[in-house]
Amino acid sequence: MNLDLTREVPKIDWGPYLANRTEQMKSSTIRELLKLTQQPDIISFAGGLPAPEFFPLREVEEACRYVVQSEGTVALQYSPTEGYRPLREFLARTMHKYGIPAVPENVLLTSGSQQALDLIGKILINEGDYVITSRPTYLGAIQAWNSYGARYHTVNLDDGGMVVDEIEHAYEKVLEDSKRPPKFIYVLPNFHNPAGTTLSLERRKKLVEVTGRLNLPIIEDDPYGQLRFEGEDIPPICTFAPERTIYLSTFSKTLTPGLRLGWIVCPEALMRRIVMAKQGADLHTGTFVQYVANDICQRGFLRPHVERLRQVYRERRDIMLDAMEEFWPVEQCRWTHPLGGLFLWAQVPEVINTTDFLQKALVEKVAYVPGSSFYPNADGGFDAMRLNFSFCPPEAIVEGTRRLGIALKKELGMV
Ligand SMILES: Cc1ncc(COP(=O)(O)O)c(C=O)c1O
Repeated sequence: MNLDLTREVPKIDWGPYLANRTEQMKSSTIRELLKLTQQPDIISFAGGLPAPEFFPLREVEEACRYVVQSEGTVALQYSPTEGYRPLREFLARTMHKYGIPAVPENVLLTSGSQQALDLIGKILINEGDYVITSRPTYLGAIQAWNSYGARYHTVNLDDGGMVVDEIEHAYEKVLEDSKRPPKFIYVLPNFHNPAGTTLSLERRKKLVEVTGRLNLPIIEDDPYGQLRFEGEDIPPICTFAPERTIYLSTFSKTLTPGLRLGWIVCPEALMRRIVMAKQGADLHTGTFVQYVANDICQRGFLRPHVERLRQVYRERRDIMLDAMEEFWPVEQCRWTHPLGGLFLWAQVPEVINTTDFLQKALVEKVAYVPGSSFYPNADGGFDAMRLNFSFCPPEAIVEGTRRLGIALKKELGMV
């Protein structure tokens, strides 16, 4: 029998059935943009994508074969919500290298860091609660927490990352506005998405000191920490206040995002709640991908691979920065010089609204993410854009940066 897949299904209005929380859910500009930028002739600096030509195809293939052959019956079975024990042990040891005093009982595997953000929202945020974060901040966190009714009080960000001197004032404003303290502060210490900035050791210590006085929990989101191109590693905030910090990281940027594998390090007192929240969400992260990732990790593949990625991304960052110097209206723009990660943040003259200007950039076949997308209260970033330098190969980075530079010059009446 042939099924008619084109048949029209009668439509109903789902409006009255939708939960109130869906009103606060906004479709991510990045996701919408990504649809557009999948056209092959567009050079996209928009997504936060790693370079696919460096995905470890052979290693993943070998690990899959090994896992199926040697552990197939357990690797394809349901498994504990906390995650696969050997991988939790591996991650606890890795965390120790960064100075985070984790034991496997503090580590929980998640379906990407994005799920960790959602679970944190689920267990900590009541309707109307405030979160303190930087402006700009990671859009995915805002998307996750909006559905729990979060509100945001923001502190500024400069070339040195979050301006920690503003935290206390932000805390007091929240108390004044809502008569209850903020639930937590959300921090992106290394190679910030979208700004590319890194929080100095001095600022990390200050942040721990201030939030300690205020009794404010810290969410430390660190997907990029391993991708440092230059300078010394700085201890995670979690090392200074492990009892008050929930630390998140992921295999997305070091192995591949398609595995959807991240982890939370949190105090044991919270673990039970997170486990229950995760059970409701997906029972557990895919057993098979955990076994595969564990096999790859135990073979010692990750360290040299990450070293290679650092070189590749450093080169791509430099190519983009050099091309900006060459093709952009240098006198009128400024941009960050990230020491690692995937992104830089460029500011253009205020007469250019980067959301409107995106249409013109797309005509020139180049894409970026407008800065205002990263402001949770929609109160800034109109003259800024996030540029990703990890995804495109070198020639495309030069060509895309040139196209953007020309479009900017045209807009400013310079050509
Ligand atoms: C700051 C930050 N947190 C979390 C995530 C989500 O990562 P994952 O792929 O592990 O879900 C990203 C992804 O780009 C990110 O930039």
